[in-house]
Amino acid sequence: MEVVIVKDAAAGGALIADSVAALLRRRPDALLGVATGSTPLPVYRALTALVRAGALDVSRARIAQLDEYVGLPQGHPESYRSVVLREVVEPLGLDEAAFLGPDGSAEDVQAACEAYDRALAGAGGVDLQLLGIGTDGHIGFNEPCSSLASRTRIKTLTRQTREDNARFFDSPDEVPHHVITQGIGTILEARHLVLLATGEGKADAVAQAVEGPVAALVPASALQLHPHATVVVDEAAASRLKLADYFRATFAAKPEWQGI
Ligand code: GLP
Repeated sequence: MEVVIVKDAAAGGALIADSVAALLRRRPDALLGVATGSTPLPVYRALTALVRAGALDVSRARIAQLDEYVGLPQGHPESYRSVVLREVVEPLGLDEAAFLGPDGSAEDVQAACEAYDRALAGAGGVDLQLLGIGTDGHIGFNEPCSSLASRTRIKTLTRQTREDNARFFDSPDEVPHHVITQGIGTILEARHLVLLATGEGKADAVAQAVEGPVAALVPASALQLHPHATVVVDEAAASRLKLADYFRATFAAKPEWQGI
């Protein structure tokens, strides 16, 4: 696992956008797995800026969703489908046809989950999966004690996650209890995992995920099992890392052509 400590969220966004750009230059129809929440927004802004400046052609890129609320009415502005279309697909000038996601309003949720795993595999698998991290260490919506081998399935949110996400809804009661999420096993199949975490509120979760044992209690610790995982953190989110100086020195000495 590589840990890169950046000055702030914008620097993290630019670094990851450059890596996505390099991937799309190598593989123009790459499948990009995207996350929701506030943290990845600087990545999407930096990527959009590259496209608008004419420095990057994303016209053949494909976008895959990581997770989704269950039971929100179709088209609800806070469904993750709506969020990804609004924050990623539209700004990049992509068509909805380039977008893959699970059906959060399906009557048979389990069938929708299984269909999504098949769709991801059928699309050739995710090339780069962008991840955030919950304050409880979740990735996607894989809450603590999710199986490290889990596939896309329905999960119940913890009270902490519902409180964290209440800011996106008019009232905390509106946050759904149930979600669909790519499983940890599904996420680990992506060719490159890039987790971005910013702010003091993520410092404990980051330290446990990066320097703690691999444990279902801290779902993000599963990144330790992946052969190409990059964790990008700002100074605040890095503040509880014991090896911070080592991570800084390692990245400073890295030849630029290697990328992340
Ligand atoms: C939600 C999403 C996660 C995201 C997390 C953190 O729970 N399902 O994918 O990583 O929120 O969100 P934020 O980046 O807003 O802190």
